[in-house]
Amino acid sequence: MLRILGVAFFALVTLPALTSPVRAEDGYDLWLRYRPIEAVAQYRPLATVIVSEGASPSLDAAKAELTRGLSGLLDKPVSAGAVADGAVVIGTPLSSPLIAGLKLPLNTLGNEGYLIRSVALNGHAVTVIAANSDIGVLYGSFAFLRLIQTRQPINRLDIASAPRLKLRLLNHWDNLDGTIERGYAGHSIFDWNKMPDYLDPRYTVMARADASVGINGISVNNVSADVWMLSSMYIGKLAALADVLRPYGIRVYVAARFSAPIELGKLKTADPADPTVQAWWKKEVDSIYRRIPDFGGFVVKANSEGQPGPRDYDRTQAEGANVIADALAPHGGIVFWRAFVYSEKDPTDRAKQAYNEFKPLDGKFRDNVFVQTKNGAIDFQPREPAHPMFGAMPKTNLALEVQITKEYLGQTTHLVYLPVLFKEILDWDTLAKGKGSTVAKVIDGSLEGHDRSAMVGVSNIGDDRNWTGAQFSQADWYGFGRLAWDPSLSADGIAREWLGMTFTNDPAFVNQVVPMMIASREAVVDYMTPLGLHHQFATSHHYGPGPWIDDLARPEWNPVYYNRADAKGLGFDRTPSGSDATAQYAPPLAKLFSGPDIPDRYLLWFQHVAWDHKMRSGRTLWDELVVHYDTGIATVAEMRKAWAVMKPYVDQQRWSQETAFLAIQEKEAQWWRDACIAYFETFSHMPMPAGHAPPPHDLAYYKAIYFPYVPGAAPHKPKDPVE
Ligand code: GCU
Repeated sequence: MLRILGVAFFALVTLPALTSPVRAEDGYDLWLRYRPIEAVAQYRPLATVIVSEGASPSLDAAKAELTRGLSGLLDKPVSAGAVADGAVVIGTPLSSPLIAGLKLPLNTLGNEGYLIRSVALNGHAVTVIAANSDIGVLYGSFAFLRLIQTRQPINRLDIASAPRLKLRLLNHWDNLDGTIERGYAGHSIFDWNKMPDYLDPRYTVMARADASVGINGISVNNVSADVWMLSSMYIGKLAALADVLRPYGIRVYVAARFSAPIELGKLKTADPADPTVQAWWKKEVDSIYRRIPDFGGFVVKANSEGQPGPRDYDRTQAEGANVIADALAPHGGIVFWRAFVYSEKDPTDRAKQAYNEFKPLDGKFRDNVFVQTKNGAIDFQPREPAHPMFGAMPKTNLALEVQITKEYLGQTTHLVYLPVLFKEILDWDTLAKGKGSTVAKVIDGSLEGHDRSAMVGVSNIGDDRNWTGAQFSQADWYGFGRLAWDPSLSADGIAREWLGMTFTNDPAFVNQVVPMMIASREAVVDYMTPLGLHHQFATSHHYGPGPWIDDLARPEWNPVYYNRADAKGLGFDRTPSGSDATAQYAPPLAKLFSGPDIPDRYLLWFQHVAWDHKMRSGRTLWDELVVHYDTGIATVAEMRKAWAVMKPYVDQQRWSQETAFLAIQEKEAQWWRDACIAYFETFSHMPMPAGHAPPPHDLAYYKAIYFPYVPGAAPHKPKDPVE
């Protein structure tokens, strides 16, 4: 058994239990493959027939999913029928007299929770999947299928589950022309041109996948929003899409452009204090609800990276959010107002700006506003300390925003299992109200007594056949949904589930691949931005390293702004002697981050440290840095080895794609390490630690690497080619 960073890789592998050759698969079926299980004889008597009284689109979806799932898993047709031994009886007390008669304890389950229980009904042993709403029944049906998919016993069930977060949303950053900002899985799956008349069957497959993990809302367009999305033409298209998603409990939201009253409404201003602007939002919103009665609301990126916003009129973020919130409130709609705000005119440390702007507005936002806050104060880096706004805005609904698409984490090909990162943030203790004031408790409303709660993920879905560009990126979509439903789940447990449903439950496979997935997150931190480094990415497309970049218009767009490498050392001084960003955290954290006890992983985020500073390990900072880069590469090398011996368990197509991707990952990990060391050594002037090779090329070589086109970047004209 190999151990890397305390993680076990199992080198000894037994042959898979499967007797037939593993069939080629392309990943299209995601984790809803429903391939026949090995022990059909054990499960078949426990799922013989589906009993569903009443009908509604969601109940029909539940019935259809159970029919598809059970028939596939049990390798025989399982269809609707009457109560018998082994029946699966689904419904709500309202739709089903059978369920009503059982008087099940559903009162704590809310509108979306479910109960799965083995009971006796009219003398028959059956399983009931009951809920207060049809959508709860659908969620319960997916959960029941998951039990079989992961080979759990289903003969004595008594499971009750309700989501801890009420709104569980994906933000698609899809442009209306079909490109996707930071999309690494092909084009947008939303084919607006053909809507509303043609609705691609993939929308339904996506809805099933979303619902299977409890995602209950999607915003459909890029947060850097195109005003056309609000036009009557596009709202008509959206209404047709909403009809497809509705049975699956998914509401549609739109990213709204703050200046829409000018561009669409032909008003002279978008000033939120102007009555004509207020009237315009009301009229616009009313007309959307006439066509989409359960429209979710808006996501707004305002005064951020060139987007218009209230600041253009000397109004606060709250005034901007509230004008839209007031228009939505009568319909029950929500505004997700993004906190990703920093100004080109403000010389303050970028990491401090959102907090500085939002904290004084605590209590000023309407109740139907969420301030949607990224996990960290900079921008979806491989590792960031939690955003200081969590715990600091007790009178505001805060939604956590994480990025599922891997803009800064290797994009399509790197295997980085993100639930580990999501968990690190959810479990982060803000100490706002003493120990245990975790981000999870801030966003689920329990810490500060909020009724509303939300978590948002920037989608990684595109029209690639496998949806996410890489097989393993499906786990990030899956894991996001699972954690938004229940932030207390473990990344390890989610990986097990997903692997079992997506590949095989064979323990020899799962026990090998789970540690590989778990280790992948620390690997990317190590080979890209170890010890608290951040934003060391090449310009604009963020593919590959660029720690030397210093020529971009805005200081905080340059990697040198963040690494602050100089003759003395490395890192951003955010202690009281520097930008004092540490003061935005609860006092014990502020003290920890500005003092000598700071954990290594946040060191260079908060402190400027001498090259020869003695680290906990006894090494100098320089040596430690090199060791981390090399550990990152070594971990990827181990991941490759671990995956290589998994060949017997996985179909050829998926196995060989991942094999190739892991090779790319290792190559690029090496590139990251070499380029960063080549740059930093021009400041440290220290020799490589013993046993660690110097970069094979000089700095000029790494600086000259140039990619004219990278997926997910904004359209641009590349430099002229040179041979
Ligand atoms: C990042 C990303 C942008 C995106 C922005 C946002 O900066 O690079 O493409 O628009 O985040 O979250 O708004």
